[in-house]
Amino acid sequence: MEFIFINAIILLICSTIFLAPMNNAIDDELALLAFKSTITVDPSQAMASWNFSLHFCEWLGVTCSHRHPTRVTGISLEGFGLSGEVLTSLSNLTFLQRLHLPNNNLHGHIPQELGNLQRLKHLNLGRNSLEGNIPETLSQCLQLQILLLNDNKLTGSIPEGLGSLQKLLYINFGNNYLTGKIPNTLGNATSLAILYLYSNSLSDSIPYSVGQLPLAFLNLTHNNLEGFIPSSFQNLTSLMHFDVSYNNLTGGIPEWFGNLSSLKTINVKMNNLKGSIPYSIGYLSSLSTLALTANTFSGAIPSSIGTLPNLYALALSHNSLSGTIPSSLYNLSSINYLGVADNLLTGTIPSDIGNTLPGLKTIYMYFNQLHGPIPMSLANATGLEDIELTGNNFTGVIPSNLGTLQNLYWLTLDRNQFEANNADDWTQQK
Ligand SMILES: *[C@@H]1O[C@H](CO)[C@@H](O)[C@H](O)[C@H]1NC(C)=O
Ligand SMILES: *[C@@H]1O[C@H](CO)[C@@H](O)[C@H](O)[C@H]1NC(C)=O
Ligand SMILES: *[C@@H]1O[C@H](CO)[C@@H](O)[C@H](O)[C@H]1NC(C)=O
Ligand SMILES: *[C@@H]1O[C@H](CO)[C@@H](O)[C@H](O)[C@H]1NC(C)=O
Ligand SMILES: *[C@@H]1O[C@H](CO)[C@@H](O)[C@H](O)[C@H]1NC(C)=O
Ligand SMILES: *[C@@H]1O[C@H](CO)[C@@H](O)[C@H](O)[C@H]1NC(C)=O
Ligand SMILES: *[C@@H]1O[C@H](CO)[C@@H](O)[C@H](O)[C@H]1NC(C)=O
Ligand SMILES: *[C@@H]1O[C@H](CO)[C@@H](O)[C@H](O)[C@H]1NC(C)=O
Ligand SMILES: *[C@@H]1O[C@H](CO)[C@@H](O)[C@H](O)[C@H]1NC(C)=O
Ligand SMILES: *[C@@H]1O[C@H](CO)[C@@H](O)[C@H](O)[C@H]1NC(C)=O
Repeated sequence: MEFIFINAIILLICSTIFLAPMNNAIDDELALLAFKSTITVDPSQAMASWNFSLHFCEWLGVTCSHRHPTRVTGISLEGFGLSGEVLTSLSNLTFLQRLHLPNNNLHGHIPQELGNLQRLKHLNLGRNSLEGNIPETLSQCLQLQILLLNDNKLTGSIPEGLGSLQKLLYINFGNNYLTGKIPNTLGNATSLAILYLYSNSLSDSIPYSVGQLPLAFLNLTHNNLEGFIPSSFQNLTSLMHFDVSYNNLTGGIPEWFGNLSSLKTINVKMNNLKGSIPYSIGYLSSLSTLALTANTFSGAIPSSIGTLPNLYALALSHNSLSGTIPSSLYNLSSINYLGVADNLLTGTIPSDIGNTLPGLKTIYMYFNQLHGPIPMSLANATGLEDIELTGNNFTGVIPSNLGTLQNLYWLTLDRNQFEANNADDWTQQK
């Protein structure tokens, strides 16, 4: 006890002499109180314990240092519906490592002064109502590993300086109003494994340097990105989830995609991509989702896709694919979603489809040039929910056992050549 006391005195003297401009415990308490005073709505009384009957290190959500027991290292108040501002006073908490305030109603700007927090590792202000720019000063927080500002109303562009954060692992700026280009300098953030910039208004092309990051998750969906998928992406051998859907990318999917052996998801839906689907896609043995919907891919569906042991969703609708559906596809027992609608595909549906694809829930084959009968076995895929076969040249009798499918809520068979000419009766919402 005495020892600690003496230590504290020595520390106090030291900090007075050597660290005069630095703040101390009293400042930490003042900073916390200043923050509390800006919280105008606290529906669940989360901050009721922030009062003088307890030491501030005991206040709900406040963590203090072990080595410097009166210095605040963490504030964690998630999902309390707190309404107020993230005050500049928080920047006085110079020992702060973790500022975790997601899922509240914080508004106003993100204070530039947060850049003073030299020890900050984790900043999560996601799911609030913050406005204004992402401050460039955050690039001074050199310890930063996690930077989550998603689901706010942030505007302006992504600060160039973030690339200097060598420890940064995870960025989420999704669901804001960010504009401008993804900065080239981001490629200097050499630890970055998760980059989520989805649902903004980012434009221009994806910088080459992004392919030099050790990315595992890349989600750029719903922006205005243009240009090619950079050739540097052939180095993204740790990439598991690649989602650039709903952009304006051009060019094709290069053959080297087949070397990105960690890929589980490829989603390029709704772009302006063209060319053929590379055969090498079939080498991606972890691939579970391949979504190429609504581009202008042409040529045949490579038979190699039929060798993907974990394929769950194959979404190829709204392209210009031709030829027959490779028979090996019907051997993928893992398939749940099979969408090949609105292409130029020919051929027939194999008679045992419902036995070889038992997990099928969705089958979209409408608007192609398929012919032959609808196999009786289809009803053996008992989980089927949505069967859409409109606008082909299917013949024969509509299998009566489709009526046994308990989960079927959508079935379209019209504009075919069925014998009984009763397809319209079958085109119904159950
Ligand atoms: C924060 O620190 C500054 C400068 O040290 C000081 O002027 C200000 O009063 C402090 N604010 C709070 C809320 O403690
Ligand atoms: C202060 O915090 C303590 C501990 O949570 C609580 O019991 C007490 O009611 C609070 N006092 C006021 C005035 O809110
Ligand atoms: C980032 O790297 C580029 C080279 O790729 C270099 O020219 C630039 O100065 C670096 N920027 C920062 C902020 O480190
Ligand atoms: C990318 O983000 C969007 C929006 O949050 C989400 O719907 C989508 O599932 C994400 N993609 C991947 C591959 O996780
Ligand atoms: C995509 O590009 C086309 C022309 O190439 C343009 O008309 C369209 O507005 C662009 N869409 C977006 C979302 O930028
Ligand atoms: C891939 O990474 C290696 C090693 O860092 C580098 O030499 C090469 O230029 C990179 N390739 C591309 C296409 O960026
Ligand atoms: C894939 O990687 C192998 C081995 O690193 C290399 O020889 C081959 O050229 C690559 N293929 C493509 C299409 O880049
Ligand atoms: C599908 O699997 C069956 C049984 O495993 C096998 O005999 C058949 O050759 C396979 N068909 C294709 C096209 O891969
Ligand atoms: C159906 O077959 C007829 C006659 O062979 C052909 O003229 C027509 O284009 C085909 N329709 C479709 C949608 O394939
Ligand atoms: C449906 O599955 C049952 C049980 O596995 C099997 O006996 C039957 O032949 C299958 N029906 C068709 C039409 O393949």
